[in-house]
Amino acid sequence: MCGIVGYIGEKQAAPKLMEGLTKLEYRGYDSAGIAVYNEGRIQLEKAEGRLQVLKDLTHNGEDVQGVIGIGHTRWATHGAPSDVNAHPHCNKDKTISIVHNGIIENYQQLRKALQEKGYEFQSETDSEVVVQLIDYYYEGDLVEAMNKVMTRIEGSYAIAAIATKNPDQIVAVRKDCPLVIGPSKEGNFIASDVTALLKYTRDVYFIEDNEIVSVTKDKIEILNRDLEPIKKELTTIGWDVSAAEKGGYPHFMFKEIAEQPKAFKDTVNPRIRDGKIVIDEVHLSEEEIKNLKKIYLIGCGSAYHAGVVGKYVIENMNRIPVEVDLASEFRYRNPIFEENSIVIVISQSGETADTLAALREAKKNGIRTLAIVNVVGSSIARDADDVIYTWAGPEIAVATTKAYSTQLSALYLLSMYFGQVRGNISTEEEQKLISELETIPEKMSKILENEEKIQYFASKYVGAKDIFFIGRGVDYAASLEGSLKLKEISYIHSEAYAAGELKHGTISLIEDGTLVIALLTQEHLYPKMISNMVELKARGAYVLAVTNESNKEVEKTADFVFYVPDTASLFAPSLAALPLQLFAYYVAVGKGCDVDKPRNLAKSVTVE
Ligand code: G6P
Repeated sequence: MCGIVGYIGEKQAAPKLMEGLTKLEYRGYDSAGIAVYNEGRIQLEKAEGRLQVLKDLTHNGEDVQGVIGIGHTRWATHGAPSDVNAHPHCNKDKTISIVHNGIIENYQQLRKALQEKGYEFQSETDSEVVVQLIDYYYEGDLVEAMNKVMTRIEGSYAIAAIATKNPDQIVAVRKDCPLVIGPSKEGNFIASDVTALLKYTRDVYFIEDNEIVSVTKDKIEILNRDLEPIKKELTTIGWDVSAAEKGGYPHFMFKEIAEQPKAFKDTVNPRIRDGKIVIDEVHLSEEEIKNLKKIYLIGCGSAYHAGVVGKYVIENMNRIPVEVDLASEFRYRNPIFEENSIVIVISQSGETADTLAALREAKKNGIRTLAIVNVVGSSIARDADDVIYTWAGPEIAVATTKAYSTQLSALYLLSMYFGQVRGNISTEEEQKLISELETIPEKMSKILENEEKIQYFASKYVGAKDIFFIGRGVDYAASLEGSLKLKEISYIHSEAYAAGELKHGTISLIEDGTLVIALLTQEHLYPKMISNMVELKARGAYVLAVTNESNKEVEKTADFVFYVPDTASLFAPSLAALPLQLFAYYVAVGKGCDVDKPRNLAKSVTVE
């Protein structure tokens, strides 16, 4: 939800801001802007539309002089995407400028109070109150003014500000929105996310809530709310710059689909040692694991879908009841927390506002928390009692693929680890599962080698209006994700249904030729699935079956079949996911959609 950057050094700022914004565009891409200080004034350049519009307007920033600046890429919340609503925002005489990520919840009261004092507002945004408030409190010290502003604003924010009277300083603050500071030989950077800094540095400071940062060209000061300095260690990021680049692939999404065997391996292999699952990061004692009475799996979007798979896997392996919930529901539904339970939150970005709030709700109630997170040092990773990192590397495409795959792998590992400690699975079973887990990456590669078949099939459905996905058990969970992928990037209406449920209403939508993608990886459920497919075909549906190589029988019923290698039934979603991702990808490409940046979406949702 919006990306912010800042640069201060000896080099021209604007091209560096553009580079940073390019890496942050996944956070929002309906408008962008920069504010650069030069020779006593702030030059403001903003444009509705993709970042490219701003780049074209400023020749990639080359036209804008100055060595200190801030930039923003927006995902509109308050006020439609437009030049005026784009950030940065300035005070009336353009002596102060800010960029903001988050939501100022009490902006209406603040706006009214400021208007009564004669302040005039240009935009419809909540963010503009920040710059007007800074102006109100400003007496020559930007840090002090910002500190006062923080006492007035409520909500979530990462804010960066510059002022003509403090021409050698960027001041930044955060609460519930990410902010990192990267010192480098080329100057000092601030950003919403490390990917924006990787070209210049891999050593960053993660800023915490209620900290204030003052950055000059040769000094970074981190202060608490009493304006006392805080000592902070630099964290070195393992990712390198090429990991966040397309590297010859037509889209990030395609690159990330192709990276799944490696991502899966990187997440799983270090946690298998001497034929055992070892998860050093989980500090639950044997006693605590044995006494677990309930597990909550919480996430949003695809992370929630990973949780649905997790429920089937954990309940089957461990016989512990698992409640899986959407973070946005969980946080407000006054959940009943049982003794000896654990809340596991799942998030690629580690910044999703609802997931973070759900985690805090659990902590407030004294419940043990564990996070499955991809971004190292993210808010959720830092707040949770324990973290299992998924080693997917940076994921840039808005629609997740490899991060989802690694979330599944982390859930398998965790479930097997619990099973091992609790004695729910025998050593023999465990060995079989571990060997199976180790073969998943090569099986994924095999599916990827066959991708033309999916491409061909997808080309026939570019004009589809509705596409349904059905499955039972973990196949139902995998269907949810397949359907979301399709609608996210191709804008085709789609629904995923538990195969037995379709006939309770939704079957009325099936017409002659409606495509239904049926997942059949669960051998014990094949006959039930076949019956559901027959019911659908009788109403005119065209059925694509995604099934195990060994299930040739399905050809008698399905109109088209895509085979995935056989595996342990609970791990099957990891293989079924790939043809579904590829199908969504090729349909979207065929329709000419912007695959990596679908309309109206953002990858990191730091607002409710
Ligand atoms: C957004 C993204 C989804 C993602 C969800 C949760 O809606 O578009 O792809 O699954 O947020 O994100 P998280 O970073 O918490 O996994």
